[in-house]
Parts: sequence; C-alpha cells; structure tokens
Amino acid sequence: MAATNIEVWQEATVNRTEVIADGILRIELEPAQPKRADPGSHIDLMVRLEGIEAKRSYSIVDSSADGKQLVISVLRAPLSRGGSEFMHQLAAGDRLKITQPLQNFPLRVGAPRYILLAGGVGITAIAKMASVLKRIKADYTLVFAGRTRTAMAYLAQLQAEHGSRLEVHVDDEGSSLNVQKLLARVQDGTELYMCGPIRLMDAVRRGWGERELDPSALRYETFGNSGWHDPEEFIVRVPQLDLEVRVPQGRSMLEALQDAGAEMMYDCRKGECGLCEVRITELTGRIDHRDVFYSERQKRQASKMNCCVSRAVTSETGAQQDARRSSPAVVTIEPN
Ligand code: FES
Repeated sequence: MAATNIEVWQEATVNRTEVIADGILRIELEPAQPKRADPGSHIDLMVRLEGIEAKRSYSIVDSSADGKQLVISVLRAPLSRGGSEFMHQLAAGDRLKITQPLQNFPLRVGAPRYILLAGGVGITAIAKMASVLKRIKADYTLVFAGRTRTAMAYLAQLQAEHGSRLEVHVDDEGSSLNVQKLLARVQDGTELYMCGPIRLMDAVRRGWGERELDPSALRYETFGNSGWHDPEEFIVRVPQLDLEVRVPQGRSMLEALQDAGAEMMYDCRKGECGLCEVRITELTGRIDHRDVFYSERQKRQASKMNCCVSRAVTSETGAQQDARRSSPAVVTIEPN
C-alpha cells in the first residue's frame, strides 16, 4: 500500500552510514514493518537531544521496491535544532523509532512537462521523483543548485541517470541559479516541484505569483530548518501563562514552550500548516519567518508567527551582533 499521512511508528535498524558530500551523511535503514515509499514521501523519526525525544522529518531519497530498505540523507547543521548532530552520530546496528513512510509532497503523474528544482540537500526530496519521471518517459528538467559541487549530494549519480535533463548551478563556479530566468521558461501546463532553502523557495513562490502562474502547479516540501538569519538564542514571554522562556539556538520556540509546560497546538512542525501560529503583542528585535504558510505581506506585518520554525533575532548587522550577545531578542506572545 502507498504512503499516507497516518503515523505508524515502528523500530528501524541502521544498516549502513556513509558521508556522501560535504556534511551530508547517507543513512540506510531497515524498518521492522516495511511499507512502500512513493516519490516525495518522508519519515518522521525520534532524535534524542539532551535526554529529551524530539521529532524530526527526513525525505526518503531512495528505497527498495518492498520498502525493506529506506535511505535518508542528513545535512549536519550545527546551528539548527540539534537533530542533525544526533543523526550524524548514528552507526550501523543502532536502532531508531521511525514512522512508516508519510506523504504530503506527492508527484502528480500526467502533466505535459515538469521542472524539478532542488537546492542543496533538498535533492533528497526530489531525486526519486526524477527517477520516476525518467522511467515513465515524461518531459522533465531536473534543476539542481548548490554552493559547491562537493556539497551537492548524489551529483555524479544524477548526471549518469539524467544526462542532458539535469541542469546544474554552482555558486562558486559563477553559475548560480537565476530564479527569474528559470520561471521565464515555465510554459502552460508545467508543474514545478521544489525543495531547498527557504530563500530559494520564497524567491520562486514570489516570482510564481508575480507571473500569475497556476498556483496549483507549484508544489514544495519544506522541513523548516533554514531561515534568513542564523538562529540566535532569544526570549519568549507569555504573560497569560506567566511564562518567560529562553529559546536556545538548537531548540524551536514551540519545543521550548512545551518544555516549560505550555500546551501548544501544532501539526506539521515544518512551517506549512499554520496551526502553531501565535499572536505577537510586543517585539524587541525582528522575526525570522521560516514558514511557507504566510504571504510576504503577512510576514512584513510581523503580528503573528508560526512558532514551530520561526524565531526572533536581534539584527543582521555585525555591529548589532555584538549587542545581541548581551541583549537577546524578546518576543511577547499570546498562545494559540
Ligand atoms: S505546526 Fe504547522 S506551521 Fe507550525
């Protein structure tokens, strides 16, 4: 049976790990209750951070047809919420709690043409889609953008598999992706699937809207782990609950509030559904919106934030970074 969104938890064994690109670890898992993984599917799994379990999501980059082997690839992100550090310490024989494959980024077969866009480790959500489109002889272009070739996982395999259908953009070779030029090539009927850093996805979403392209033909996956600013420690105040909570670099605001005993509403934990929205009543600093739920206008207003991914920061300038160390940003909220 194909993947769904019903969480079924199980044990999985790590069969093998291998560093495949700068900071990217490929992890082969053998689940106890295998289930087929369709293109675009992911697993949730439990990582342990300072003795506390926390849920993280990773795309299934490859799998056996029967689902007895699932492959994920994890970028080490020292400034993120800490899950990647845990994942990078895994070794063959370790056991994990994982879900069966979940699907909220399905590939719709039958479009006249496709653009698949991957930025950095976002290729993990896209690679299997490209394989399927090749197999069914669809008209597709796979666009893969990265900082350096050595940081682009699976690049050699993708070149061998997709040949001239693969378009590679590498920042340090002066061939960075130009989003406007890419969107100018979108013809009627094209479906665009993307996964990558929030800046890339924001630029594509903005350009897609400006060109009045069909909104239902733009599909994306986000794991809510990158923003416009490096994560900083900040303070969240909830007067109604008499709470003042420190949110460290490696923890989300949602997690920090839950750790402090607040009962919070949430669902995706990836900045997609808006269920964890809180109202901002006071702010010292600015909000680094890391969700894909709000429009640009809503983000500018900064009256609300999705606390599963978005953070408060002081400022992006060097001078103010020094001030930040003694005075973290402070956001006062009303809980959801
Ligand atoms: S839980 Fe879905 S956006 Fe935060």
